[in-house]
Amino acid sequence: MKTLVQKISKQSIAKAVALLKKGEVVAFPTETVYGLGANAFSAAAVKKIFAAKGRPADNPVLVHVGSLEMLHTVVRSVPPRAQKLIDAFWPGPLTLILPVAKTVPRAVTTGLSTVAVRMPSGKVALALIRGAGVPLAAPSANTSGRPSPTTAAHVLQDMRGTIPLILDGGPSQFGVESTIVDASRTPAVVLRPGAISIEAIRAVVGKVVVAGEKSKVRAPGMKYRHYAPRAVLVLVSGDVSLVRKQYTAKKVRVFRKGELTLRNLYAKLRQADEQGFEVLLATVISEKGTGVALMNRLRKAASAVVDS
Ligand code: TXA
Ligand code: MG
Repeated sequence: MKTLVQKISKQSIAKAVALLKKGEVVAFPTETVYGLGANAFSAAAVKKIFAAKGRPADNPVLVHVGSLEMLHTVVRSVPPRAQKLIDAFWPGPLTLILPVAKTVPRAVTTGLSTVAVRMPSGKVALALIRGAGVPLAAPSANTSGRPSPTTAAHVLQDMRGTIPLILDGGPSQFGVESTIVDASRTPAVVLRPGAISIEAIRAVVGKVVVAGEKSKVRAPGMKYRHYAPRAVLVLVSGDVSLVRKQYTAKKVRVFRKGELTLRNLYAKLRQADEQGFEVLLATVISEKGTGVALMNRLRKAASAVVDS
């Protein structure tokens, strides 16, 4: 299959809408990262997303809606705590776990009784959803396990020959995925830290807990390796130069303290791969504010965490 990359225009959006209506998969920009979208009501279309990504069959995808009316076509109910978060953060990079309606095929939820849903603020994403007239199931548009794409060129690296169209809306505004909150539990649980800080969530709903590797409440995707570059990424606490000496025979890229940010992390990891680095060294950062999401992604992408 030939993969077209087209800049945003009335024509390219119309082409994407036509493909979505035919049950095809299209990559498109959102304010967080690029998504790989398909009609969420079509099991056959959603299965194409799993095939394109090589996504494990037990990792559900999230659903993007264009209005509150559309939200109610995919969920059974919206608990008051979730409604507060919607009022505060939608449209925007917040995903909620809500009881799923019967209309949503198993292919989306992988059989769970809940669905992950958000209303993106990205204009192109909203135009596509409204144009298609259906919610769009869309995980990040990377091959499973790779860093998420924050440009159309990143999507092309992973999806060339696999999907018909990539809409190019320039670099993503946030560069990291949405924050996922399960607000059906008391207290609410942050399943994935992301573009909206935990403090901001807490300011709206009060006490929240953050799901960790040891926690019982987890997102199905948490057990898989994620965001990983081809190079070996080593997270260092302490003196990077001491660790650097262990890799004299390798092509090593040291990320300066503060060089990696939520916005540029995935782009920097992909760029290091393009440049042929074999080992990437990054320093552990403090887990405050945006540092929570950044450390979450770094840990998942890393092959090892070492102390100098
Ligand atoms: O910013 C984002 O969230 C991007 C853009 C494209 O919107 N999307 C994204 O989707 O990151 P994805 O599919 O790569 O990540 C969705 C996460 C996965 O970790 C999945 O396991 C989890 O949400 N998830 C999906 N349905 C769930 C459910 N019912 N309960 C708990 N976790 C769920
Ligand atoms: Mg993803």
